[in-house]
Amino acid sequence: MTPALAQPLESEAEISIAAEGIERSFATGKTVNRVLKGIALDIRPGELTLIIGPSGSGKSTLIAVLSGLLRPDAGRVSVLGADLWSLPQSRIDAFRLENCGFVFQGFNLFSALTAREQVMLPLKYMGVTGNRAREAAEAVLTEVGLGAQMNLRPLELSGGEKQRVAIARALVKRPRLIFADEPTSSLDSENGRIVISLLHKAAQERGATVVAVSHDQRLMTHSDRVVTLEDGEIRRDERQAPSRDFRRGVEP
Ligand SMILES: Nc1ncnc2c1ncn2[C@@H]1O[C@H](COP(=O)(O)OP(=O)(O)O)[C@@H](O)[C@H]1O
Ligand SMILES: [Mg+2]
Repeated sequence: MTPALAQPLESEAEISIAAEGIERSFATGKTVNRVLKGIALDIRPGELTLIIGPSGSGKSTLIAVLSGLLRPDAGRVSVLGADLWSLPQSRIDAFRLENCGFVFQGFNLFSALTAREQVMLPLKYMGVTGNRAREAAEAVLTEVGLGAQMNLRPLELSGGEKQRVAIARALVKRPRLIFADEPTSSLDSENGRIVISLLHKAAQERGATVVAVSHDQRLMTHSDRVVTLEDGEIRRDERQAPSRDFRRGVEP
């Protein structure tokens, strides 16, 4: 597979993710819990779209359906022009590997690996190794402000630093799509702000499509668009005024 490292992002494309009629239920014993109730949502590249809603409203289920991790019961997800859920499973897996970066609440780092090694790992899966992988990992770690922590392991890093390693790991293959599920929920507000700023920057400077879900209202000011999910339905969809700090290129 050709690594995506040098490919330009198509930030001009109008819509990168188009979902329609998304239904998803979970059966527990005899009861069926209808979690997503006919979701329709178009998401644009170059923006941070924040899906916000209370716990249990279906946010994680929705992001998993949009990112190829969880098959919906009904509906269609078109991603970068591909009808995602009509692809064979192997193509869905390849699509995720090539195009998607993920950031989760719990960081999901390997305890034995240094920050640099964590970030080199996805490149290895894409066939990029040696100096090229090392240089790419170091560049993106520097970009997220961890130039001095490259040799440290998760135990030696703070929560905010760990999440920045996870963001660097998501960014290193220059994915066109970045999905973040509660990326700031285990962080204090200052580190939460840094993390959401980095995700915002990935949208604005790399033209990536960034979808973050959270129950944290404070993230709204750092987003381009806020979609409110309640009880498996979209209740509001609002565009935010541009954040001037980002337009000026202020570092987090
Ligand atoms: N794998 C699963 N099996 C059964 N129920 C689930 C599963 N995943 C999620 N649910 C249920 O779906 C609802 C929405 O969950 P989720 O999408 O995780 O919400 P949120 O991320 O907004 O907190 C909850 O009631 C949850 O218990
Ligand atoms: Mg969740």
